[in-house]
Amino acid sequence: MFINFWYAAGRSEDITNEAPTKVRMLGLDFVVFRDSSGQVHCLSDTCVHRGGSLGNGKIKGDCVQCPYHGWEFDGEGACQKVPSLGPGGKPPARARTDAYPVEEKYGLVHVFLGDMAEADRPPIMDIPEYGTEGWRATIQQYDWVIDYQRSVENALDPAHNEFVHPTHGFSGADPDYHVPPLNIDETDWGTGFLVEYKAPPLADDKMREGTGREKNAVVTAGTWTHGPTCNATRINPMPDKHIHQYSFKTPVDDTHSRSYLVNLRNFVIEPENDARMMTRNDVVAGQDGEILEYMNPLVTPPTNTKEIFVPADGAIARYREILKGWEAKGWKIDIDKVEADRKKVAYAIPSPARRNAKGWVIDPVPMVDSSNVESVKQAAE
Ligand code: FES
Ligand SMILES: [Fe+2]
Repeated sequence: MFINFWYAAGRSEDITNEAPTKVRMLGLDFVVFRDSSGQVHCLSDTCVHRGGSLGNGKIKGDCVQCPYHGWEFDGEGACQKVPSLGPGGKPPARARTDAYPVEEKYGLVHVFLGDMAEADRPPIMDIPEYGTEGWRATIQQYDWVIDYQRSVENALDPAHNEFVHPTHGFSGADPDYHVPPLNIDETDWGTGFLVEYKAPPLADDKMREGTGREKNAVVTAGTWTHGPTCNATRINPMPDKHIHQYSFKTPVDDTHSRSYLVNLRNFVIEPENDARMMTRNDVVAGQDGEILEYMNPLVTPPTNTKEIFVPADGAIARYREILKGWEAKGWKIDIDKVEADRKKVAYAIPSPARRNAKGWVIDPVPMVDSSNVESVKQAAE
């Protein structure tokens, strides 16, 4: 799991100014809340006084109040009130907690978990069709006992469709089945490919009516990653009919992931078709989930030697190289240490304010030693 990327912390409609929301991301806890002006804030969940959980507290005006002794923290993470000091009491200078940049987009609250300066930050995954005429968007949330990396790699895997999704392939019954060579694309923050595959007729009458797909057809589809956790999939059931799926995945910890699927379609766009499209997405996601929840090991192995790669796995191999590059920058969390220390040490992801101010109470999350990356790579060769 990597710092210095944007992560979806929740759906906009679920974050209110009535009560804070506690969210675990990257193995650590955060509190997300909306202030009186409607602005959303995200802080490290750990109260710097005695370690209370801010997410279990209350919203007081524009602050979140710790449930233990009532200290109040504003959206910038500064403590504004220590009730035990009495009226007018001045909170200690070190009484501040990490606050993370927040942006609401595509119906989601995105938070930047890292300390990178604004100008250098990777962007939130773009959805160019969102809000444009002729496209209909829906959003769905999935929670799985899955390593997020396994899930991203599944999206980058053109060879599973034939066997996992009866709607996308022939369950191994097609004697001509093969995956054509992948033309791997590079983007600023990811990799992916577009590929052609043979698919059976669409089973759903209404969907079929929308596409004219009564027979087997050659369908083009492709997937691209964005950052370590997000991916965009474009499916063209007919040349002019498009389904574009944007999956904002948030690792809860190293074995649990949550994903927010923003699905856009340019056919059967009437709202009464939303449920049909969402049910179809649920079925497909469930088929993937049934495979991914039983992977052994559940977490992606650290070297490629513990698995076998064939040409259809080319995009997965490229994605792993890109992750290694971010690990070499020192952005990979040492989650084993976080888990081992969980009872004894509170950690926080360093926020941008740590670049300029010293004296933070909570330890920064331990990172994987990036000097190891070269040796890990060599071991894989
Ligand atoms: S632990 Fe939060 S106010 Fe004391
Ligand atoms: Fe799949």
